[in-house]
Amino acid sequence: MSSKKDKKKRKSDAKPAETAHMPSREFSTKARIPSMKAYRKLYKESIDSPSKFWAREAGELSWQKKWKKVLDWKAPDAKWFVGGKLNVCENCVDRHADGPRANKAAIIWEGEPGDKQVITYAQLKREVSRVANVLEKKGVKSGDRVLIYMPMIPEAAYAMLACARIGAVHNVVFGGFASDAIVDRLEDSGATTVITADGGWRRGKVVALKPVVDEALKKYKKVERVIVAKRTGNDVTMKKDRDSWLHDDLKDVSALHSPKGFDSEHPLFLLYTSGSTGKPKGILHTSGGYLTGTYTTCKYIFDMRDEDVYWCTADIGWITGHSYIIYGPLANGATQVMYEGAPNFPDFSRFWQICEDHGVTIFYTAPTAIRAFIKAGDDLVKKHDLSKLRLLGSVGEPINPEAWNWYHKVIGGGRCPIVDTWWQTETGAIMISPMPGATPCKPGTATLPFFGVDAAILDEQGKECKANEDGRLVIRKPWPSMIRSIYGDKKRFKKTYWMDYKGMYTAGDGARRDRDGNFWIIGRLDDVLNVSGHRLGTAEIESALVAHPAVAEAAVIGRPHELKGQAVACFVILKGKHRESEQLRQELRNHVGKIIGAIAKPDDLHFAPGLPKTRSGKIMRRLLKELVNTGKVTGNVTTLEDPTIIAKLAKIIAK
Ligand code: PRX
Repeated sequence: MSSKKDKKKRKSDAKPAETAHMPSREFSTKARIPSMKAYRKLYKESIDSPSKFWAREAGELSWQKKWKKVLDWKAPDAKWFVGGKLNVCENCVDRHADGPRANKAAIIWEGEPGDKQVITYAQLKREVSRVANVLEKKGVKSGDRVLIYMPMIPEAAYAMLACARIGAVHNVVFGGFASDAIVDRLEDSGATTVITADGGWRRGKVVALKPVVDEALKKYKKVERVIVAKRTGNDVTMKKDRDSWLHDDLKDVSALHSPKGFDSEHPLFLLYTSGSTGKPKGILHTSGGYLTGTYTTCKYIFDMRDEDVYWCTADIGWITGHSYIIYGPLANGATQVMYEGAPNFPDFSRFWQICEDHGVTIFYTAPTAIRAFIKAGDDLVKKHDLSKLRLLGSVGEPINPEAWNWYHKVIGGGRCPIVDTWWQTETGAIMISPMPGATPCKPGTATLPFFGVDAAILDEQGKECKANEDGRLVIRKPWPSMIRSIYGDKKRFKKTYWMDYKGMYTAGDGARRDRDGNFWIIGRLDDVLNVSGHRLGTAEIESALVAHPAVAEAAVIGRPHELKGQAVACFVILKGKHRESEQLRQELRNHVGKIIGAIAKPDDLHFAPGLPKTRSGKIMRRLLKELVNTGKVTGNVTTLEDPTIIAKLAKIIAK
């Protein structure tokens, strides 16, 4: 029950927006964590006795062999649930299919053209088992890497779960990435199997996928089998002895498959994400800890119930799709909506139509989408019945107060708590977030750490920052769903995350805490941009640009963008004989799109006579950022090799 203090605070509902919003009494009394007192009690236990706390949570899952020890920790190496064996897929599928949830909807799927499928847990078990049998029949074994490049169709979920079921390590590549991104990931992971589809629907058009895989496989020759799901019916070429249609393969296999137990630390998946160098990092997650983390966060933060209809609008190509479409919700036996297409097809009311049609109660999306909805106008929302919604979530970037307030009022009807969830591909699960039935929420803060998360903000010397002082966000203790390594590069893993402060994980984000202890995330401290909630390394875009024959040098920075959060701004120096033109500008933008994917296409591309460099040749991106954002550079520029470059660039930007 809520404490007296909480009840008193709840009265603050009526106060202006800057004061904290409290969950309604109706929400709190039903919530698993109904008060700050309950949150603090459990949080204390999770920090003081993590083994006790996590053993209890993991104990709610199904283990084929119980662990001997909860945690083995020698920074930066963590082993969770040591000696335990489980099958992640069995936990997400069979556990429900073999019990009272058998005929409960697991996935309510909607294709962009409007086609629908409801998949119960019993059906999910059959479908996943069949795909697992196909993979095994084709020779895919435990530990093999499988690249998945698919649209948001049920087969994508089956493919991921089937890999987990047989112990194969999936690497999902976002369907918007280009063929070079596939080549990089195949080379780094050494995958020999690809699961894809002919195409997917996006904004009324077919986005072809198989041809992109074909292009990639011209460069990477080690793939032995390509399994293709039929979705759009576009023409594809199938290479004999390598490519097969999934529907043909499924004809010959049984719907029974027995899920073997794998070691708790068995690799579950690799997911590549941008860092501060040109080469994406293969983030490695393992089984028992990851599942415990995603299961537990869903249970408390989304407060998932059997009667809920949950919808996370992310794509399975990102970590949010892994943790909060596949593993977390399914481990909780939830009913969830999965949607294939764009939020604005046929118009910006599509999401609200889906919420109304399927009675969505928990809705999880990104601030960039919220800002696009605000721009599209409230009328598109108002014609839909959103009265079933009870909880809203936000992820991917700081949510600006305007977007928070609109989300709360227009989508949530003023009654739904909003969980602003901070986390990363590396953390595997949500790390900082309100407890929806307890935490007072100020728009713009992800509030307080989740159970077991010892988050802090440190200055450069490693001293904890005072209230409202900016510093670096770190996690001081291991947590179950943490990154285990960068695939094949333990050195980079240590260097990237564990070198700043001894024994602590550095997130790469700047943050501050207010006097109430709330964490306010400021943004990345490294050369990583956050465009529409997606991570893009400036170095990746720069290396794509210099791969073009006309480009001698390039510098990429982020600038604030009304809808996307950040936009990509580039400065390009052309090689001798090439001349600037609008046509070349477009060509370079498209070239980046072709190499990385459409999300990386530069918004601004400035042709520059030079770049601000130190005498040792280092590009001062900080100055470019200041110039783009304010139109001028304050401070000393005399250390630059050519100080006059600043004025020249200012003129170009002002054009
Ligand atoms: O900068 C933070 C931002 O997104 C980064 C992680 O990106 P990625 O690994 O792609 O995962 C995105 C989905 C979890 C973080 O380092 N970020 C994520 N969520 C928030 C956020 N920034 C502020 N508030 C958030 N809620």
